[in-house]
Amino acid sequence: MGNVEAVTAPDWVSLDQLFTRVLHSEDDALRAAREAADTAGMPAIEVSAQHAKLLSLLVKMSGSRRVLEIGTLAGYSTIALARAVGSGGAVVSLEYEPAHAEVARRSLERAEVADRVEIVVGAALDSLPGLQQRGDVFDFVFIDADKENNVAYVEWAVTLGHPGTVIVVDNIARNGRVVDPQPGDEQAHAIRAMFDMIGSHPRLEAAAIQTVGAKGWDGFAVALVS
Ligand code: SAH
Ligand code: DHB
Ligand code: MG
Repeated sequence: MGNVEAVTAPDWVSLDQLFTRVLHSEDDALRAAREAADTAGMPAIEVSAQHAKLLSLLVKMSGSRRVLEIGTLAGYSTIALARAVGSGGAVVSLEYEPAHAEVARRSLERAEVADRVEIVVGAALDSLPGLQQRGDVFDFVFIDADKENNVAYVEWAVTLGHPGTVIVVDNIARNGRVVDPQPGDEQAHAIRAMFDMIGSHPRLEAAAIQTVGAKGWDGFAVALVS
């Protein structure tokens, strides 16, 4: 405990940067995806380089070949997922904003994974029934869009999954706001409701991991469908 006081917020960022440098976590294509988002005036809310790498490793460790992502933004996490499924795999990524999808498509081309990624533009809850109708089944689902719909997204992930499907949900701490959601904080309420739902779901077991790093205090949950 003696060194705790020496650890301040900027050090989380520095240590994240060190990990990224030493572990070679971010190559030119990922960097370009981040910069393209910035140039296009999009918010810098993509996953960190370390989080992207962990997503990639989870996809590989689970042997997942068919990945669903909800929330593309500029395609940063999409590139990590698409690389992990390999050339025979496929990623479907759902994005509400056409302009985000356009920037993402160019970044996916630059990363040479565009051939294995389908971006579906529209509100995810409108797109998901179409995926079910055409018979899509997913081994891995990354939920990272409007937090207000997280309960529905987790339900859809189970519906479109199978025993063994891995679900990762981003942004489960939001600087701690989820502990005691304030009136009007719909995001925090929705994340809290999602945990109640996962906790009582007969086919889900999960862990929620808080993180500090380049993105401040947040975290992600990992769930396994049985
Ligand atoms: N996964 C990305 C970040 C996603 S940010 C990454 O880590 O690189 C969240 C994205 O979800 C934004 O692009 C936003 O436009 C999109 N979004 C918000 N509401 C949505 C909805 N209802 N359906 C689909 N996408 C939505
Ligand atoms: C926000 C959304 C995210 O997906 C994220 O990782 C960080 C922030 C946001 O909407 O503020
Ligand atoms: Mg996120």
